Amino acid sequence: MSKTRTPVIAGNWKMNGLCVTGCALAAAVADGAAGLNCELVICPPATLLAPVGEVLKSGSIRLGAQDCHAAESGAHTGDIGAPMLADIGCSAVIVGHSERRTDHGETDALVQAKTAAAHAAGLTAIVCVGETEGERDAGEALGVVGRQVSLSLPDGTTAANTIVAYEPVWAIGSGRTPTPDDVREVHGHIREILAERLGGAGADGIRILYGGSMKPTNALELLAIPNVDGGLIGGASLVADDFLAIAKSCP
Ligand code: PGA
Repeated sequence: MSKTRTPVIAGNWKMNGLCVTGCALAAAVADGAAGLNCELVICPPATLLAPVGEVLKSGSIRLGAQDCHAAESGAHTGDIGAPMLADIGCSAVIVGHSERRTDHGETDALVQAKTAAAHAAGLTAIVCVGETEGERDAGEALGVVGRQVSLSLPDGTTAANTIVAYEPVWAIGSGRTPTPDDVREVHGHIREILAERLGGAGADGIRILYGGSMKPTNALELLAIPNVDGGLIGGASLVADDFLAIAKSCP
């Protein structure tokens, strides 16, 4: 991992947690977060942004959301604009997670618009990409991921406003992970695509996270791979000790 890139461990709670359990989880993570050499981000469901933000407000853990609308405001029932997330204390937002690409039909163009909206609101966009199992089996992983990276990032993308998360769809929640060689290959390719899209100097500072069944037992190996600058953690982020153990595995 480049010394110039501080690792990021982000917890994606997905559609889990009620006030009492979510606040207790955030407090337990905050209690154990001293002395880490990585940045921590917690992304609870929208209903918990305010109470979890309250729990985290005196510490250094960043609050993130799981999605935003591409528009600032307007007639979009049920949606949340990026300025609203900033207003409630978020400094980050996940965009283009494969569950949203699948469940809500989100395209690269929409993800790019959401990323631009996040940037305009002063948020760090955590932009997710990743191939399906069928695409990997067909030898298309690098092509698919490269295309997603270049089409999902708007002009104005920088290391300060963007984190990329490589999450093979088949590894999410499955307990399966790619081999370290496969992770190294995809992350190296993402770095090259970033350089093409943004120019070398800008691309070098962007953190590229690995996500998909990262847990305490495999984090050390995954986080040691070149160009793996942290993790986006789903299931294991719902257990404070597991999330913290992953954070402690950052080199
Ligand atoms: P997982 O989810 O860690 O449960 O595989 C990762 C993610 O979807 O962000």
